[in-house]
Order: sequence, then structure tokens, then C-alpha cells
Amino acid sequence: MKVLVTGGMGYIGSHTCVQMIEAGITPVIIDNLCNAKREVLNRIKNLTQTTPVFYEGDVRDETLLDRVFSEQKIDSVVHFAGLKAVGESVAKPLEYYDNNVNGSLVLARAMRKAGVKSLVFSSSATVYGDPASVPITESFPTGATTNPYGRSKYMVEECLRDLFYAEPDWSITLLRYFNPVGAHPSGSMGEDPQGIPNNLMPFIAQVAVGRRDHLSVFGDDYATPDGTGVRDYIHVMDLADGHIAAIRGVGNKAGLHIYNLGTGQGSSVLDMVNAFTAACGHDVPYQICPRRPGDIAECWASTAKVEADLGWKATRTVEQMTADTWNWQSKNPNGYE
Ligand code: NAD
Ligand code: UD1
Repeated sequence: MKVLVTGGMGYIGSHTCVQMIEAGITPVIIDNLCNAKREVLNRIKNLTQTTPVFYEGDVRDETLLDRVFSEQKIDSVVHFAGLKAVGESVAKPLEYYDNNVNGSLVLARAMRKAGVKSLVFSSSATVYGDPASVPITESFPTGATTNPYGRSKYMVEECLRDLFYAEPDWSITLLRYFNPVGAHPSGSMGEDPQGIPNNLMPFIAQVAVGRRDHLSVFGDDYATPDGTGVRDYIHVMDLADGHIAAIRGVGNKAGLHIYNLGTGQGSSVLDMVNAFTAACGHDVPYQICPRRPGDIAECWASTAKVEADLGWKATRTVEQMTADTWNWQSKNPNGYE
């Protein structure tokens, strides 16, 4: 089976390519390298003894997509390519809607032309906004998003829903990721954010390795057990396996398939700091700061539907997430540079 992986050089895409190769699936990558390094291809090769076919280019380039589909016999597409920084999306909404929404439309159009109608889309728990309760099931209302990034994910979900209703022979899978963290256990692949990390885990990792002084903990007055925000952190290797389960389970079944990819467990900011301290063997200095605008108190997934339908369940613990992140960060203090 051959799968086109858009954004396959990025954090989640690269780990998914490795797991696909291990599972006997052939990934073909398209990526414009706007948030990834070419070195990723060498790391995939070193881990798998396979270098995926790589097209350097943009998913909004329909001519390139037509060429990819004519040169490769693609069975399914996993669409990771997009921009993902919430703060940047507020400053650059046009760039975010163009990349994330328009990019998905161009891709779907090229797929239809090529007769490839199996698509897995990288969505986010952000589409649920501030949920009325936890755990969050797939039937919770979506759309009350608070920033252009979140709205772009919601819009693509709605576009793909409409596409499925108009053309019910498609298999469209919306995977709503909770908080992906961790790295390949070898320490040779991981998250390599450019500039100051926005997300908790890469920030903690950069403090632990000495690139930054301390972590700012955004609020300790939430209605949570220790007052800090609670999230559903999921190991990127589990997330990668979730894509393979989706392709194999429903990738050739016409339908609109929607799944949460999380662990079903919530951890607080201080839980993650403590787990990281244990993993790296020294303190991770932090300061309590005001809440970050737009943050919610707690967010974790119900995983009942994905377990029942796809037989997939995240198995890696918070200890493994922090240990693998530390292994990657300490072996590659400056990322892929
Ligand atoms: P990433 O930035 O590491 O990977 C995205 C990849 O897409 C990068 O390699 C980038 O160069 C490429 N890309 C971006 N725009 C492109 C375009 N127009 N054409 C071709 N390539 C393009 O991000 P990630 O963390 O691996 O996230 C992958 C997907 O999952 C994104 O769609 C993201 O919104 C979604 N997601 C991520 C998270 C998270 O916390 N990481 C959570 C929920 C959803
Ligand atoms: C963020 C995005 C969300 C996106 C998700 C995955 C926001 C508001 N939301 O979610 O849209 O889908 O990433 O990419 O940006 N924290 C600190 N200090 C830090 C960083 C984070 O205390 O330096 C706290 C946050 O307040 C939160 C938790 O850590 O309680 C997790 O934050 P983060 O990793 O940014 O993820 P989310 O906010 O859940």
C-alpha cells in the first residue's frame, strides 16, 4: 500500500512515516520544508533502511500534486501539511487560512482528479473549544474555536463533511489529536520547534537542556487538582500508530469517520514538570505566571469510539513521553541543526 503523506517531514509526519515503513506501508512525502529540515529524511533512512520518495513542494501547487498522483500509484493520503502556531495565526490569519484551508481544498481536488478518495486529515481537539465537561466524546459540539488556527481546522472539517455528503464514495477520516509529545525512542527524531516554543513539552525540554532559564507556568488558579491546566498528552509514536490503524481500519470504507486520538488521561502542567524532572535527573526551574489568554482549564479525550472501531489504544505512559523527549533533546540540543 502506498500512502501520500503531506507534511511528512514535520514532527508527527516523520514519526508516522517511520511507523508506516515498519508496518509495510510505503510513504511518499510532499513537504515544502517551511517548518522542517531535510535532515529528517536521513534520520528516517537510518531508522528504517528506507528513504521515502520525497517531493519538495507545496500542497497548494496543483500542478505538482497532479504530477505526484500520475507518477505514484497512491492508495490513500494522510494530510499533515499546515501551519500550527496559535499566536502566529492571530497575527497572520490570511496565511493560515490560505495554507490550511486552501491547501486542503487543492489537495482534495487533485485527489478527485486522480481517483484517490481515501483521506485522513490532521484535526485537533481545539475544534471542541472550551468543552462543557470532560472526557470529550466525538459527538461534542465543535466550532467554538478562539483563534484562526483553530477555525482553520474546523473549516476544513466542515469542507470535508460537505464533500462526503456530495460524494459518498469517499473515505474521509478526521483525527482530532489531543496534545502530541514525545519522540522516537532512538533519540534520533523528535520535535524541533523554530524560535521560542509555544507548547509546554518542548519548552520544558529546552529549559532542561539549558537553552532557556525557566518555564513560565500559565496560571495555578484553575479548578483542577493542583490549579494548573490539565491536558491529554499523547506519545507521538502512539499517534503515528493511530494513523496506521485508521488507514487499515476505515481507509477503504466509504464514510465520514471521526476519532479522538488521545490517551483518555489528564495530566497537569506540574505533573509534566515532575515527570520531566525524574526523566532528566535534575530540577526544571519554573515560575508561576498569569493565565495565558485563550487557555482552558482541562481537556481530555474519551477514547471509547476509537478503541471500539479501530482497536487502537495509546499504550505509552507519561514517563515514556518525558524520557523519550529528554533522550531526543539531550542528544540533539539544537534539534536537527
Ligand atoms: P509540523 O509543523 O512539524 O509539520 C507540518 C509539516 O508540513 C512541516 O514539515 C511543514 O514544512 C509542512 N508544510 C506546511 N505547510 C505546507 C504546505 N503548504 N505544503 C507542503 N508542506 C507544508 O507540525 P506537526 O506538529 O507535525 O503537525 C502536523 C499536523 O497536525 C498539522 O496539520 C497540525 O495542525 C496538526 N496538529 C498538530 C498538533 C500538535 O500539537 N503538534 C495538534 C493537533 C493537530
Ligand atoms: C495548544 C493550542 C491548541 C493546539 C495545541 C496543540 C493554544 C491556546 N492552544 O494547546 O490550539 O491544538 O496546542 O498544538 O495555544 N503551558 C505553560 N507554559 C508554557 C506552555 C504551556 O504553563 O510555556 C500550559 C498551558 O497553559 C496548558 C498546558 O501547558 O495548560 C499545555 O499547553 P500547550 O502545550 O501550549 O497546549 P494547549 O494549550 O493544550
